[in-house]
Amino acid sequence: MGDPIAGRAFALEVCTPCHRVATDQLSPGRFAVAPDFRAIANTRAMTETALHAFLSTSHPSMPNLILSQHEQDDVIAYIVSLRHQP
Ligand code: HEC
Repeated sequence: MGDPIAGRAFALEVCTPCHRVATDQLSPGRFAVAPDFRAIANTRAMTETALHAFLSTSHPSMPNLILSQHEQDDVIAYIVSLRHQP
């Protein structure tokens, strides 16, 4: 099981240039082109398995962004924790 608190901290460090990671994140990413994490969380097709698959391969426009298994577990635990929030 991943740790959502650690995942949030990791995402705020690594994913914020492009994604809105948290609702209290003041400025959207510099390249704000990527989907909001809450939108990802509420996308039905984005199951934990799908998220693992996505994060195990290179990211669009960021070929070197491949997360370790541990980082994936934490970030996915965080994303899943955002589900069904208003
Ligand atoms: C350099 C910019 C950039 C960074 C940094 C970045 N992403 Fe992304 N990400 C994107 C873009 C652009 C897309 C949309 C790709 C598409 O729709 O084809 C995306 C899509 C995604 C998706 C799939 C969403 C969907 O609905 O298909 C997930 C999950 C995701 N990112 C997670 C992360 C995580 C977790 C991090 C941090 C570890 C991260 N991203 C960092 C640019 C970025």
